[in-house]
Amino acid sequence: MKVDVLLGLQWGDEGKGKVVDVLTPQYDVISRFQGGPNAGHTLEFNGSKFVLHTIPSGIFQGDKVNVIGNGVVLDPAIFKKEIEKLETTGYDLTKKLLISKKAHLILPTHRLLDAAYEAAKGASKIGSTLKGIGPTYTDKVSRNGVRVGDILENFDAKYKAAVERHETILKQYNFEYNLAEVEKEWFEGLEVLKRFTFIDSEQFVNDALKGGRSVLAEGAQGTMLDIDFGSYPFVTSSNTVCAGACTGLGIAPNKIGDVFGIFKAYCTRVGSGPFPTELFDETGEELRQRGHEFGSTTGRARRCGWIDLVALKYAIMVNGVTKLIMMKSDVLDQFEVIKACVAYKVNGEETSVFPYSLDGEVEPIYSELPGWKTDMTKMQSEDEFPEEFNNYLAFLEEELEVPITIVSVGPDRDQTIERYTEEI
Ligand code: GDP
Ligand code: IMO
Ligand code: MG
Repeated sequence: MKVDVLLGLQWGDEGKGKVVDVLTPQYDVISRFQGGPNAGHTLEFNGSKFVLHTIPSGIFQGDKVNVIGNGVVLDPAIFKKEIEKLETTGYDLTKKLLISKKAHLILPTHRLLDAAYEAAKGASKIGSTLKGIGPTYTDKVSRNGVRVGDILENFDAKYKAAVERHETILKQYNFEYNLAEVEKEWFEGLEVLKRFTFIDSEQFVNDALKGGRSVLAEGAQGTMLDIDFGSYPFVTSSNTVCAGACTGLGIAPNKIGDVFGIFKAYCTRVGSGPFPTELFDETGEELRQRGHEFGSTTGRARRCGWIDLVALKYAIMVNGVTKLIMMKSDVLDQFEVIKACVAYKVNGEETSVFPYSLDGEVEPIYSELPGWKTDMTKMQSEDEFPEEFNNYLAFLEEELEVPITIVSVGPDRDQTIERYTEEI
């Protein structure tokens, strides 16, 4: 068996949570491979809505095993809140959620450091989610991190050593904080975390594959936020691309099966950094209102713009996407004209290749397509698609050279339409 990977192709919030939930019945194991509580993955079904931050989005469908992989960074305080919310709704996860011993812990001081670094950057801040993601991955790479497996052995000494180091840095930044306050909920979270089974997830996932069980790897953030390929430095601190599933789960590249690349029918970004197709006019506002574009994790208003095919092609290339999934088509239902950026003019020169830097003047060049002006939210099959919508899909497939196999027409699990069910 192979691992199929589902990941975002834009700047995050493409709708990964919804689609993982929809695809879960086809898999035995669902596993998150990177990121942490900077993610907010929204699922809606049977009139309920859940936002998951660390827990994989496969937990609502039957008894599938959900794994938090070694590439994830985990904050016990946030984990506790997630677990308790699910438990009060009647979901007991202790048996179906497994956690890698090699996943790194976000300590209370990592969160404080994140805030201190952002404050020091002033106007050039990243716009981080302030969840401690950057400092935790920094400690991992500099070989100073504290891992989930450390909870089982000599934890206090490791925790104290890390906190001492962090406090020295916080003092250098003249950052004011109350450690006792944040530590309280963190240690309460640690007790909740201890109720779960810690595993060698690379062993578990490979054994599952060997035993003929199928695995879906769930990405967080999006390709344009990848530490290597995103709009650096305005990125997150992990590899959000397909290769991140190999290092974040311990699977070999030849074990990767399908790569599902998920994108919105338009584009959003939250936090700072370049965004060539961003709209500052009433069209941008209309996208924000119609798409309810406010962050699932921070509540921040998302920046909105037209779809960017230059960036999308680049994302498809670095991920080896085999199937595309288009989300939030319904948000464009009432537009007269739909625009798609097919090239950039960078410092006066036209290019359809994603450039090294988007810092200078980048002017998007658009193709215009007629809108479909039809409510698609209740549609059940592609036979009902309006002609203009089919034309939009055909245009995108020709540009992107990958089939769009799923179209999402609303936030609910049921508002999902599969295409090419027989051919592919
Ligand atoms: P993720 O981080 O990629 O899982 O995405 P988020 O959950 O942060 O953001 C996606 C938002 O769009 C959520 O509020 C979803 O409920 C919502 N959503 C997902 N698919 C659709 C869709 O097809 N149409 C509409 N209108 N909303 C959608
Ligand atoms: P999901 O999984 C959208 C953005 C932040 C900021 C940058 C760095 O829900 O798609 P970080 O806290 O990671 O150091 O912030 O990355 N960011 C996201 N934007 N969706 C996310 O996750 C994000 N996770 C981080 O806004 O610009
Ligand atoms: Mg999100």
